[in-house]
Amino acid sequence: MKRDLKTIVFKVNPENPDEEKINVAAEVIRRGGIVAFPTETVYGLGVDALNKEAVKRMYEVKGRPPDNPTIVHIAEFNDVYRLAVDVPEVAEELMKRFWPGPLTIVLKASNIVPRVTTGGLETVGIRMPKHNVALALIKASKTPIAAPSANIAGKPSPTTAQHVIQDFYGSIDVILDAGPTKIGVESTVLDLTTKPPQILRPGGVTYEELKEVLGDVIIHKAAKAKENIPIDEVKSPGMKYRHYAPKAELIVVEGETNKIIEEIKKLINEYSKMGRKVGVMATDETVKNYEMGIVKSVGSRSDLSTIARNLFRTLREFDDEGVELILAEGVPEEGLGLAIMNRLRKASGYKVIHVS
Ligand code: TXA
Ligand code: MG
Repeated sequence: MKRDLKTIVFKVNPENPDEEKINVAAEVIRRGGIVAFPTETVYGLGVDALNKEAVKRMYEVKGRPPDNPTIVHIAEFNDVYRLAVDVPEVAEELMKRFWPGPLTIVLKASNIVPRVTTGGLETVGIRMPKHNVALALIKASKTPIAAPSANIAGKPSPTTAQHVIQDFYGSIDVILDAGPTKIGVESTVLDLTTKPPQILRPGGVTYEELKEVLGDVIIHKAAKAKENIPIDEVKSPGMKYRHYAPKAELIVVEGETNKIIEEIKKLINEYSKMGRKVGVMATDETVKNYEMGIVKSVGSRSDLSTIARNLFRTLREFDDEGVELILAEGVPEEGLGLAIMNRLRKASGYKVIHVS
């Protein structure tokens, strides 16, 4: 990808963004340009969702395969009915409870949504982000904004503007920098076109929370998979591509915490003897157990939201420090743990060791 654009980086206040800067960015969106912006989950690579050419350019810049659909971001509830048809009642309940917030609902797409935006599908994923900068940008642009995570395809998602700059400086028009994102893993993608509704990607809204509203909801098996799922069982095209991967090799060790520690200590020894630069992604509770390698705590096991928030940044940090092999501790698949383990397993290319 050429990097010959003059990218404007605007620092904006996350709560009260400067109207002038938002207007400049919105004008870029209206002209068919690309604006990276913060949401509560990760940064997005935004274009006018209804402008085919702009969407195509965004796919090229990101290096995203054309059959992987992009989420459409809105700032008004009513926009759902322009973008989707046959909206079930339960969608309204979900919107009331979780929007703005990290929930993407997949509905039958209306005719105004270009099929380049939906990756050729007849459905569209829609969400209302909980971030004043994102909402202000969408409103000022007067159009829904299609935005995948603002990382080059396959890399860890960006939780700071610095990550976006690394991947896209010189290849997009504007970057709105409002500091680190709060949640750190992406939105939950929920398919409402099937019965019962299916979680295609676990994320910021948990399975437990959705179950409270929906009663019946299932988790697509790819979302919990410990190995690659055959292509014909893939529901969301995003499931079939390698994702979130650091440059370093990554091995995830899952199971009971004490056993994880023993296994990782053993592996550090083995790999260090082979001359490899080893990193350990530990937690506040376990970090003291490791004496060798580059050891980082990603957050606390007693509050998984801290791990979600730091996950992608920590993976990128290991790369920046030249680590060749990352050994990551698994966490229980409860609450945000489901999204964390989904990202970690995928990032490892399913190199998972289960200790019991
Ligand atoms: O939190 C987020 O969701 C972030 C921020 C920027 O909003 N966006 C994000 O977009 O993570 P992306 O493109 O990196 O991931 C979107 C996921 C992909 O796995 C894609 O396949 C799925 O959502 N998706 C989007 N539209 C879909 C549809 N119509 N049917 C099935 N899956 C869909
Ligand atoms: Mg992504």
